[in-house]
Amino acid sequence: MRYSEKNNAVSITVIVLSLIFFGVLYICISTTSIFQYCFPFQNCQQWPSSDMNIMDAPKDDLEIALEEASMENRTVIIAILNKAYVEGDAPGKTMLDMFLEAFWVGENTIPLLDHLLLVAVDQTAYDRCKFRRLHCYKLVTNETDFSKEELFMSEKFLKMMWARVHFLGDVLRRGYSFLFTDTDVMWLRNPFNRLSSDESVDFQCSSDHFNGDPWSYNNHVNTGFYFVRPNQKTIALFDSWYARRENSTGMNEQHMLEKMKNEDVFKQLGLKMMFMDTVYFSGYCVDSWDFNAVTTVHANCCRGTRAKVSDMTVTLDDWKKYKSSTNRTMTFKWSNHTACIESWLTWQV
Ligand SMILES: *[C@@H]1O[C@H](CO)[C@@H](O)[C@H](O)[C@H]1NC(C)=O
Ligand SMILES: *[C@@H]1O[C@H](CO)[C@@H](O)[C@H](O)[C@H]1NC(C)=O
Ligand SMILES: *[C@@H]1O[C@H](CO)[C@@H](O)[C@H](O)[C@H]1NC(C)=O
Ligand SMILES: *[C@@H]1O[C@H](CO)[C@@H](O)[C@H](O)[C@H]1NC(C)=O
Ligand SMILES: *[C@@H]1O[C@H](CO)[C@@H](O)[C@H](O)[C@H]1NC(C)=O
Repeated sequence: MRYSEKNNAVSITVIVLSLIFFGVLYICISTTSIFQYCFPFQNCQQWPSSDMNIMDAPKDDLEIALEEASMENRTVIIAILNKAYVEGDAPGKTMLDMFLEAFWVGENTIPLLDHLLLVAVDQTAYDRCKFRRLHCYKLVTNETDFSKEELFMSEKFLKMMWARVHFLGDVLRRGYSFLFTDTDVMWLRNPFNRLSSDESVDFQCSSDHFNGDPWSYNNHVNTGFYFVRPNQKTIALFDSWYARRENSTGMNEQHMLEKMKNEDVFKQLGLKMMFMDTVYFSGYCVDSWDFNAVTTVHANCCRGTRAKVSDMTVTLDDWKKYKSSTNRTMTFKWSNHTACIESWLTWQV
């Protein structure tokens, strides 16, 4: 009896001393800088990133903007805005007006504006965004001033497009899914109902001409409307995409992504990519044949803001007629995109 009690007391003393010893050792090691990122009670970085310690730093403006616009499941809608889209050169509607008007006339699309983050690339666009009481973020780059409507493929236009890729990569690194939309895309229904909810699909991309097979790499990418989930693979894709700007003479970011798709970069990264059907995600290149299914209409295959705004007005009128009709089994037809067709004729002369 006595022997056993003595034995217990020794064991307990040994355990207590060991706990103290290892406790002190743990604190010593963990406070040295080498181990700073590896101990569980300190902030380990969630995403591999060379240029950020966002977990340690106080929240920056982008983090705050994303939090405000985000859905509960860390999903945001992102559009880029510049001065040319908020100020018409002629009296009348601007691109931003048309973009927002579509949410107004669309079916249950107004609540989506709560999750739209408008990324302004100049002060005028930012001021207009704030004036509309939307979620706005001012993208500061030291590259150039993006306030003018830059000619397609001009040097400044390309810089703006690459800044966009860099920015969106940053959004992924912060763990947000995003649905990127150009402002010439009219949202008539909620796109999230038509996107694949399969979480293993990393990248869903719109296409001007859909070939009928969502998995076919013969579809061409259109970077004016796409949905990406954040993970190591998509972050690697955006890093690689942005790095390739150095070798991108004569190409914009969309050409480059198309090239990367053709070179099987998606497959090499293990990315699962699918294309959107134009019956839901339509445009002026290919109209949706079904008014009961159409979700977005992209003013693609068109040159210049003025022609787009003009034809977008007509498209929204077509849509309003459909919406106010009491017989939705009627076959509705879209009007011709006259201004956009003409925009190419005047361009070629
Ligand atoms: C800004 O300028 C620096 C130095 O020229 C450069 O390294 C960096 O890539 C530029 N761009 C951004 C977005 O910071
Ligand atoms: C996030 O939640 C919204 C609203 O419930 C849903 O429509 C959307 O599909 C979700 N997004 C993702 C990536 O799961
Ligand atoms: C650009 O091209 C050069 C020469 O072909 C190559 O060495 C380099 O790795 C390329 N850079 C990127 C980012 O692909
Ligand atoms: C609706 O339109 C279709 C096609 O024009 C027609 O066949 C149908 O009879 C109409 N239904 C009603 C209730 O008017
Ligand atoms: C639309 O264009 C087609 C083909 O160019 C033409 O046949 C048709 O008459 C046009 N429709 C309208 C309403 O102008």
